[in-house]
Amino acid sequence: MKSFLQEVSFGLSKKNKKLSSKWFYDFKGSKLFEQITKLKEYYPARTERKILKDNKIEIANKIGKGAVLIEPGAGDIKKIEIFLSSLDKPKKYIPLDISEDYIIKISQSFKKKFPKVAITPKGYDFSGSDKLPFKINSSENIIIFFPGSTIGNFEKKDAVKFLKMLKMKFKAKKIIIGADLIKDIPTLISAYNDKKGVTAKFNKNILQRMNTELGTNINLNFYQHLAIYNKSKKRIEMRLKAKKNNNIRINGSKYSIKKNEEIHTENSHKYTIKSFRNLANEAGWKVKKTWVDDKKLFSVHFLDLGL
Ligand code: AVJ
Repeated sequence: MKSFLQEVSFGLSKKNKKLSSKWFYDFKGSKLFEQITKLKEYYPARTERKILKDNKIEIANKIGKGAVLIEPGAGDIKKIEIFLSSLDKPKKYIPLDISEDYIIKISQSFKKKFPKVAITPKGYDFSGSDKLPFKINSSENIIIFFPGSTIGNFEKKDAVKFLKMLKMKFKAKKIIIGADLIKDIPTLISAYNDKKGVTAKFNKNILQRMNTELGTNINLNFYQHLAIYNKSKKRIEMRLKAKKNNNIRINGSKYSIKKNEEIHTENSHKYTIKSFRNLANEAGWKVKKTWVDDKKLFSVHFLDLGL
């Protein structure tokens, strides 16, 4: 697995400078994302929450008995509890997150709420190829819970790879997954350009981490948060745009950033119900059920192997 240093050095050497959105999520970034989910502009979080709540009985029936629930990128683990108490004797819940300190901390109070479920949080970067930090028993009812449209961070081919990996490596039998839907552009854009500037702070947290972890001396005020909708690629792109020429020095290397140059930091792909179904099919999964809210802002899908 490449380190933060290696990835930053690589990403800043490119002609089109680029950093992976996974680096947003240290403890502070995870907190900022938690704040984003509470913003009025950020419709995905509350909409998905409502979809899960309104359909929890049907979801529980589809999940079935004795579930081993694994949630990659679990973050503040606010969503599983919507249907966890509706499940028939769930066995285990394994929240995984790239920010180990955050997931361990968040899980503490959660364990008290569900004393009958074995809850074992682990630090894990699901975008990489590291060995799983827990044992898999492939005869169990293994369910992947992947809400929030986190799948949207992947480019198409990586999304397919990820969904295949859930089958091969995690031995998943079923997936419950959220995908944000294509909609009018102002709604999409304002969800990533909130008035309070929380998303801007979240975006700049990657620079903040470089300052604290890599010893750079970046003035965060030299950068402007940008979120645009790329119509042809059907995704929101976040970028950090330099307001003036500046140099970033890391370990004796110097990266020159020109005024108006942009560092790409995140893609958030949007789907239609059909394009999501095609994606799942390409990875060998069958969409058995799709739930949406009445404004068709967001979708939650139930996938199985179609056996
Ligand atoms: C956590 C990846 C689903 O893409 O909407 C929120 C991250 N970025 N605001 C998303 C995010 C800016 C979020 N995901």
